[in-house]
Amino acid sequence: MTPLGRLRLGINIDHVATIRNARGGALPDPLRAAFLAEAAGADGITAHLREDRRHIRDSDIEALVAGISVPLNFECAATSEMQAIALRHKPHAICLVPEKREERTTEGGLDVAGDETRLAAFIAPLRDAGCRVSMFIGHEARQIEASAKIGAAVVELHTGRYCDLIAEGQTDAAAAELEALRLGATHAHSLGLEVHMGHGLDFETATHVAVFPEVVELNIGHFLIGEAVFRGLGPAIEEMRRRIDCARNGTQSA
Ligand code: PXP
Repeated sequence: MTPLGRLRLGINIDHVATIRNARGGALPDPLRAAFLAEAAGADGITAHLREDRRHIRDSDIEALVAGISVPLNFECAATSEMQAIALRHKPHAICLVPEKREERTTEGGLDVAGDETRLAAFIAPLRDAGCRVSMFIGHEARQIEASAKIGAAVVELHTGRYCDLIAEGQTDAAAAELEALRLGATHAHSLGLEVHMGHGLDFETATHVAVFPEVVELNIGHFLIGEAVFRGLGPAIEEMRRRIDCARNGTQSA
């Protein structure tokens, strides 16, 4: 068996900004979290600038672009405002997500198949600017195929439903969802797309998807920021790194 390549670990720092914004001041500083994440072995930093600016602010994106030395994965909705911001900063990667004002987090994947023409036109200038454009989608074949058709470089498959099923103890449904994610990763890879996964992942669920050979990057936020309260951000990320590496290498993660 060929050894699997090292999985990239992207750390989503949105929830450091959520805590900061709860008090309206400057602390805790998401940029400091990004520096700590880098020092702990993060391969990238993810930040989602939502339309309502509920966590990450425009000034955070500016500080990240200027300050971090690992790639920035800029998450946003496919709106003209976000396109202009993305084109101004030209981050390494741009991950397009669906956004509803009333949702607590990104609840489902982007409907690429239902919005092909608009999204193809939307991503063209981002690609021309040299950014890797990623579609945050479910594992359905039609969404994967539409992402390939419109010229996305990457798909990030939404693991939220899988993680919810695990949390609810719905073992059979979780196993079926995990298999669908696996097949989705294989399908996307066969179409030339780079495959990422993310949303809701924790120490356990991350190791279940880390073993898929086609997956090259995981993006993880909420669980690690929560875990940081108890063990510190650096140690939480290092533990995640260790566990996904062990899963990937087929070694024991005691
Ligand atoms: N990937 C994408 C595209 C997301 O929207 C999010 C949540 O903002 C994540 C990964 C990280 O999810 P979580 O915070 O649940 O780990």
